[in-house]
Amino acid sequence: MAEKIIMDVDTGHDDMVAIVMAAGLQEIELMGIVAVSGNQVLEKTLSNTLKVCELIGADVPVFAGMDRPLLRPQLIGGDIHGETGLDGPVFPPLCKNAEPIHGVRFIIDTVLAHPHEITLVPVGPLTDIAMAMRLEPRLSSLVKKIVLMGGSMGKGNRTPYAEFNIFADPEAAHIVFSSGAPIVMMGLDVTLQVLLDDPLLQRFRSRRTKSATMFGDSMTFYTKACKAHGSEHPAMHDPCCIAYVAEPSLFTLERRDITVELQDKLTYGKTYASKSEDAIGNTWVGVKADAPRFWELLDRAFDSLP
Ligand code: RIB
Ligand code: CA
Repeated sequence: MAEKIIMDVDTGHDDMVAIVMAAGLQEIELMGIVAVSGNQVLEKTLSNTLKVCELIGADVPVFAGMDRPLLRPQLIGGDIHGETGLDGPVFPPLCKNAEPIHGVRFIIDTVLAHPHEITLVPVGPLTDIAMAMRLEPRLSSLVKKIVLMGGSMGKGNRTPYAEFNIFADPEAAHIVFSSGAPIVMMGLDVTLQVLLDDPLLQRFRSRRTKSATMFGDSMTFYTKACKAHGSEHPAMHDPCCIAYVAEPSLFTLERRDITVELQDKLTYGKTYASKSEDAIGNTWVGVKADAPRFWELLDRAFDSLP
C-alpha cells in the first residue's frame, strides 16, 4: 500500500528533487502539493512547483498556501536559489494552473477525509501546517505523521544558530513541534550527510531524459550557488523527507523533544533538542543517513519519469 502524502514546498532546488522523488516512487501516493513562501515569494514558489510538475508529467493538484510568515517579516532565500527561486533550467511555457481552493483548506479537508492515513511532508517554512492546526484543532491527532525538513541539533545555516525553514517562521515551527502530532524531523544533522558531488551529478545528467536534464541544469546552478556560499556540494535537504517516507530504513532516528527559540534576538529560530533519555514527546530526529541507498532511490524515481 503506497503512503498517501501531501507535500508543502517552497520550490527551490532541493524541493524540486523532493517532488521528483515523490512523483517517481511507487511507494508514494502524492495527493497534492501546497506551495508556501520561503526560498522565494509565493508567486514564484507556486510557479516553480507547477513548472516542475508539468515537466515531469506529475498529474498532481497544486495549491497556493500562505504568502508570508505568521508574525515575522517575510524572509526569502533568493541568494542561494536565484531570482526565480529555481534558477538553472529553462521550462516550456506553463500550462498547468493552481487549484482554486487555498492550500491550507486542502490540507485540512484531505486529512479529515482520510483520518490517520495522510503523511504531511513540509519542506519549507511551517506556516501552512501551523495555520491548518489553528483552523482545525483535530488535525494533529488525525494526521498519520508529519515528516518535515527543518531545524538542527547543531549549527544553523541561515544564522549560526537557526536553519532556514525554522528561522523563516519560528512561531509556526513552535505551533507544529508543540502540537503533539507524530513528527519526524529531518534536520541539518542528517541532511548534510547526503551531498551531490560532481560524479553523481553527471550520472543523473547522463540519463538524458527531460526530467533528468532539468535536474542536471538545476543542480549545476545550485552547486555553483552553494560553492559561492562556502559549501563544497549541495545537500539533499528536502528529498531526505521523501526518502524516509518511501524507505524508513535509510535513516537512523533518535527520540528527542524539540523546542524553538522565539525570544532571543540573536538565536531566535534555533531548535533545542532534549536528551534522548529525557524525551517524552512524539518527535524523532534523523541522525544518520545511508547516502548510497538514497541515490539508488532517486535513480529508481527517474526510471519512471519522462
Ligand atoms: O535549510 C534548508 C531548507 O531551506 C530547504 O528546505 C531549502 O529548500 C530551504 O527551504
Ligand atoms: Ca525547501
